[in-house]
Amino acid sequence: MSSSALTSAHTRVSAASLYVPKPVRVRKIIRETHDVCTFQLEFVDPVHAAAFTYRTGQFGEFSVFGVGEATFNISSSPNWKGYFECCFRKIGLVTGAMARLKEGDVIGFRGPYGNSYDLDAMHGRDLIFAAGGIGFPPIRCLVWRVLEEREKFGSVVIVHGARSHRDLIYQREMAEWSKRRDIHMIKTVDPGGDPEGWDGEVGFVPTVLEERVPWVLEREGKGPANAMAFTCGPPVMTKFVIQALTRMGIGLEQIVLTLENKMKCAVGKCGRCNIGSTYVCLEGPIFNAAQVRAMPDDQ
Ligand SMILES: Cc1cc2nc3c(=O)[nH]c(=O)nc-3n(C[C@H](O)[C@H](O)[C@H](O)COP(=O)(O)OP(=O)(O)OC[C@H]3O[C@@H](n4cnc5c(N)ncnc54)[C@H](O)[C@@H]3O)c2cc1C
Ligand code: FES
Repeated sequence: MSSSALTSAHTRVSAASLYVPKPVRVRKIIRETHDVCTFQLEFVDPVHAAAFTYRTGQFGEFSVFGVGEATFNISSSPNWKGYFECCFRKIGLVTGAMARLKEGDVIGFRGPYGNSYDLDAMHGRDLIFAAGGIGFPPIRCLVWRVLEEREKFGSVVIVHGARSHRDLIYQREMAEWSKRRDIHMIKTVDPGGDPEGWDGEVGFVPTVLEERVPWVLEREGKGPANAMAFTCGPPVMTKFVIQALTRMGIGLEQIVLTLENKMKCAVGKCGRCNIGSTYVCLEGPIFNAAQVRAMPDDQ
């Protein structure tokens, strides 16, 4: 065989292997709400398990064999050993098929992909986390990383919203975080989503954020110039969260978003995720609000 034939065969194998998922077993399923599940996953092949590392904020492609692939953030902390997690809402083909799986079933995984949160840049800063609904998993991995080294950071405020109390995910850990004196945990539901006895706020995430967070920054923090905010959720929510943070004196460079543009290949090949010349799968999904504002609107 000529060397050029060898090279092209090698290229074909490399390109194909980009898309070959590794088998991962669903070791535990946590039913967060009526339509949201957390999967704890472990690699079937110990060689894959030993080689696997990821950074906080990265995502992967998760596949149900014979159905298709879907993109989810890796919602666990990279410091948790032996397994990793994703959390998904059942909205379509792949997530519907995933919701029917049982513990012990095997799915496919490609990744990790994308950039990650810059934890060094967060040291000493007051941190605001604001997320709505299924926007919380990309933030939750970062909250856990912060809590693992809590002494390195300033005040921590978490605003977690959902349409109704039935749609609030991670209820068990939120209850634990609410008991901690070094976290301000604020949970809120949209007006009308609060049952009798509801002990949280009623109001949309941006409104509650603007009412409650300035007090914390003034009393316990070092003011808006020292704050950093992290948000993920429906575009309408993040738009109003950015406006609220800006009114509080927090600059666009201090606001970090996780974008969830539709993806297919996740490796910069298909052009499905790009906004102008920016490939969200390669350069993102994490951007600051100044970078997002500079992107074209027609995504
Ligand atoms: C970087 C990134 C991280 C993500 N993290 C999470 C996560 O942690 N948890 C989670 O539940 N989801 C997350 N998503 C969204 C998730 O990828 C989609 O909801 C999922 O692909 C749906 O797959 P499906 O086959 O079930 O839906 P489909 O059958 O493909 O679609 C069902 C409906 O949802 C719409 N839809 C599908 N994907 C998107 C999208 N990305 N944005 C807007 N509408 C969409 C379709 O147009 C269709 O109307 C993330 C997306 C990205 C790009
Ligand atoms: S998802 Fe294919 S280029 Fe980004």
